[in-house]
Amino acid sequence: MGSELKYLAVLAITLAALLHSTAAQETHVVGDKFGWLVPPGGHYAYEVWAAGHKFSIGDILEFNFTTGDQDVAKVTKQAFDSCNSTSPIELKTTGPANFTLDTIGEYYFIGTKDRHCELGQKLAINVTAHSGSPTPSPSPKPSPTPRGPVTYVVGDQFGWIVPPGGELAYSAWAYGKTFYVGDTLEFNFTAGEQDVAVVSKEAYDTCNFVNTSYTLMTAVPVFFELNIIRSYYFIGAKDKHCELGQKLAINVTANPGGPTASPTPAPAPRAPVTYIVGDKLGWLVPGQYAYSAWAYGKTFIVGDTLVFNFVNGTQDVAVVTKAAFDNCNTNSTVAVFTNSPVNIILNTTGELYFTSTYDRHCELGQKLAINVTAKSTGTATSLSSPTTPSSHAPSAQSPAAPGPYNSAPSMINGSGYFVSFLLVALSFFH
Ligand SMILES: *[C@@H]1O[C@H](CO)[C@@H](O)[C@H](O)[C@H]1NC(C)=O
Ligand SMILES: *[C@@H]1O[C@H](CO)[C@@H](O)[C@H](O)[C@H]1NC(C)=O
Ligand SMILES: *[C@@H]1O[C@H](CO)[C@@H](O)[C@H](O)[C@H]1NC(C)=O
Ligand SMILES: *[C@@H]1O[C@H](CO)[C@@H](O)[C@H](O)[C@H]1NC(C)=O
Ligand SMILES: *[C@@H]1O[C@H](CO)[C@@H](O)[C@H](O)[C@H]1NC(C)=O
Ligand SMILES: *[C@@H]1O[C@H](CO)[C@@H](O)[C@H](O)[C@H]1NC(C)=O
Ligand SMILES: *[C@@H]1O[C@H](CO)[C@@H](O)[C@H](O)[C@H]1NC(C)=O
Ligand SMILES: *[C@@H]1O[C@H](CO)[C@@H](O)[C@H](O)[C@H]1NC(C)=O
Ligand SMILES: *[C@@H]1O[C@H](CO)[C@@H](O)[C@H](O)[C@H]1NC(C)=O
Ligand SMILES: *[C@@H]1O[C@H](CO)[C@@H](O)[C@H](O)[C@H]1NC(C)=O
Ligand SMILES: *[C@@H]1O[C@H](CO)[C@@H](O)[C@H](O)[C@H]1NC(C)=O
Ligand SMILES: *[C@@H]1O[C@H](CO)[C@@H](O)[C@H](O)[C@H]1NC(C)=O
Repeated sequence: MGSELKYLAVLAITLAALLHSTAAQETHVVGDKFGWLVPPGGHYAYEVWAAGHKFSIGDILEFNFTTGDQDVAKVTKQAFDSCNSTSPIELKTTGPANFTLDTIGEYYFIGTKDRHCELGQKLAINVTAHSGSPTPSPSPKPSPTPRGPVTYVVGDQFGWIVPPGGELAYSAWAYGKTFYVGDTLEFNFTAGEQDVAVVSKEAYDTCNFVNTSYTLMTAVPVFFELNIIRSYYFIGAKDKHCELGQKLAINVTANPGGPTASPTPAPAPRAPVTYIVGDKLGWLVPGQYAYSAWAYGKTFIVGDTLVFNFVNGTQDVAVVTKAAFDNCNTNSTVAVFTNSPVNIILNTTGELYFTSTYDRHCELGQKLAINVTAKSTGTATSLSSPTTPSSHAPSAQSPAAPGPYNSAPSMINGSGYFVSFLLVALSFFH
């Protein structure tokens, strides 16, 4: 718990969880990994930190700081408000320093060195009893790690601003949160006064994005879907907003499960899957339709891996555009891999096309098209059951129906393959 930094939006859930757990003593490391310091821009950082914690009698506050550079004093409200450090209630000069919260009520802490308190090294908390919290607890337990997509309001009630606390504010906001592919960030700000740019790491670090490629969004609110496994860097592009701390960096990872909060009957969530393309046959020239049959009924979600097995020097794996795929024109490719096994991590949503640059391999059927989705829309299937395809494509046409195969989820449409051919080809691997 001590490492979590969430604030008001999830406080109720946290409270409920804590109340339902046994009343164990907890240690709160002030500022979590940032410790106890002069925050880059003001007291906002420790207010945010405190808002994400519940302090109960018997808990310990641990101030982590470098002895000599910092100190911590417990003071009165008046001294806290005026940053008066002349006669603290208790002063600790050796870090890390612990305070046991042994009474109910408000506690005030400041750094007494130089102008540390004025610059924001100050913390006020409220300590409550374990039982008798005024907050009822209608909330369920915190959801387990696999979960449905979440929309995060960046900065919660503070929105997307030039934070009084400097960039620590948005690091603090992001800290302890998990961002999965399929989640959304909502940037709430005043139109005209703020904006959001997605930039490179270098531009983020230097706040210089002028000569870089970036995406600027100005319409309020900005809903930004996190659809790729990668690091995302956001800054305010106006004036000196970035320099002043309007910047946010997050890492997006694969959802270990599928959606669990979907209002419609949710398919079973699953962990990332590694698919061996063609299974035992591997990647070769198999005849028409074999790989579409192989892909049929499988769900590809971001985070999965494709493994292409082949004999070096006899095949390769070319990533191509849809046009090149359709025409078997491999004059230009997105990428070519020649060393077996080739592992492709599916790190973005959308359609992916694979073939071979070897002469006529594509025409002879060495081609695979898949559609990668952000979240599980069904479980991975094996082809061992002849009924598998229809059971996993409930909205699709009957497998026996003639006509273009175009309505099952997570497959490409319009590829010209016919379901009847697919079913014939299904037996190819058995
Ligand atoms: C205290 O800070 C030091 C140096 O930053 C760090 O190595 C250590 O893990 C921190 N301790 C805690 C409890 O966070
Ligand atoms: C600081 O606190 C001390 C002791 O309470 C008091 O005597 C002094 O006047 C205060 N200084 C200011 C500037 O308020
Ligand atoms: C502070 O409390 C933590 C957790 O109980 C403990 O591990 C640590 O040793 C204590 N540090 C000091 C200086 O007492
Ligand atoms: C502590 O709680 C009381 C009553 O709920 C409130 O008036 C006060 O502002 C709180 N103090 C702090 C420092 O949060
Ligand atoms: C966005 O900001 C406006 C104005 O501050 C506020 O009224 C609104 O509730 C905010 N929306 C969210 C989702 O926080
Ligand atoms: C952008 O590139 C131009 C031309 O290379 C250069 O003159 C200018 O200084 C660059 N601006 C920044 C902010 O790097
Ligand atoms: C993202 O992950 C990389 C590599 O694990 C790490 O170095 C970086 O600090 C992370 N960034 C954020 C914002 O968590
Ligand atoms: C591919 O390149 C070859 C040789 O440059 C050329 O003859 C052929 O027309 C090209 N094929 C297509 C479809 O562009
Ligand atoms: C293919 O070549 C690569 C690089 O030489 C080698 O690491 C790999 O083991 C080879 N694969 C097979 C299946 O021989
Ligand atoms: C996606 O994975 C490929 C290799 O499989 C890698 O080259 C590419 O940089 C990755 N893209 C992102 C956005 O991580
Ligand atoms: C790929 O999947 C996405 C998400 O389900 C869908 O919106 C898109 O239309 C699909 N593309 C094709 C070509 O089926
Ligand atoms: C898939 O369907 C969409 C919408 O009907 C269409 O825009 C798109 O071109 C189709 N994709 C293919 C690969 O035909």
